[in-house]
Amino acid sequence: MDLQIGGTTRSLIRERVFKEKNLGSLVEFGCGTGFNTAILSAKAESLVATDFSPGMLAVAKARIAARNVTFRVEDCQKASFCDSSFDTAFMSLVIHFTEPLKTLAEMRRILKTGGMLIIANLDPAALKSFDRLRCWVRIIFNGLARFRVKPPKGFGQHLLSEKQLCTHLRDAGFNVLSCETIRDGSRSSNIPVDYVRARKVC
Ligand SMILES: C[S@@+](CC[C@H](N)C(=O)[O-])C[C@H]1O[C@@H](n2cnc3c(N)ncnc32)[C@H](O)[C@@H]1O
Repeated sequence: MDLQIGGTTRSLIRERVFKEKNLGSLVEFGCGTGFNTAILSAKAESLVATDFSPGMLAVAKARIAARNVTFRVEDCQKASFCDSSFDTAFMSLVIHFTEPLKTLAEMRRILKTGGMLIIANLDPAALKSFDRLRCWVRIIFNGLARFRVKPPKGFGQHLLSEKQLCTHLRDAGFNVLSCETIRDGSRSSNIPVDYVRARKVC
C-alpha cells in the first residue's frame, strides 16, 4: 500500500483521525493490521474492529490492547450487525476492494440516523495523467518483480474519484460534511487519499 500512496500517507491519515471527537459506538471495517485501531478506540466509547481476513484480524488483535475494542470477522458489503447499530463507521483504504454501492448501502443500514461515515478513499484520478501512468507502472512492476503477484482480475475497477464517491454517498442517503485530500508530496506519483466525512440522513 505504501508503494502506491507513499510512506507517510497512512500516518497522515492517522493524524487526521486523531482530530476526530466523540465517535460514540464505532465500527471499523477493513482494519487490516490495526494501523488506525488504537487511535480510533481513544476517540470512541466502544469500537468493533473488523476485517474479512481472519489473518489480518489476528495481527490487529495481537497489537491492540485497548479495553473498549472487540474484534470480529466481517465483510463490509454484507455485515452481520443489526440495523442502526452504530454512531460511526470508519473505513480506510478499503472501499476500492468492494462494490462501492453495496458497501455504502450497508453502511447506511448499520448506522443510526444522524450517524457518521468516515472513508479514506484511494484516489488515483486526482493524479495528473503522466503521474497516474507512472504510478500504475510502479504498482505493476513492484507487484510482479518484488512480490511476484499478478494484478488480480478486475484490478482497480472499483476505484472512485472524490466526485464519484461524493455522488454515490448522496445517492445512498448521506449528507457529505467534508472532503479533504491527504497526500505524501515526496513523489508526484504518490496516490492521494480523500478523507471524506458524511452523515446519514433520514
Ligand atoms: C489496504 S488494507 C487497509 C488496512 C487499514 N484499514 C489501513 O488503513 O491500514 C485493506 C484491508 O481491507 C480488507 N478488506 C478488503 N475487502 C474487504 C471487505 N469486503 N470487507 C472487509 N474487509 C475487507 C483487507 O482484508 C485488508 O485488511
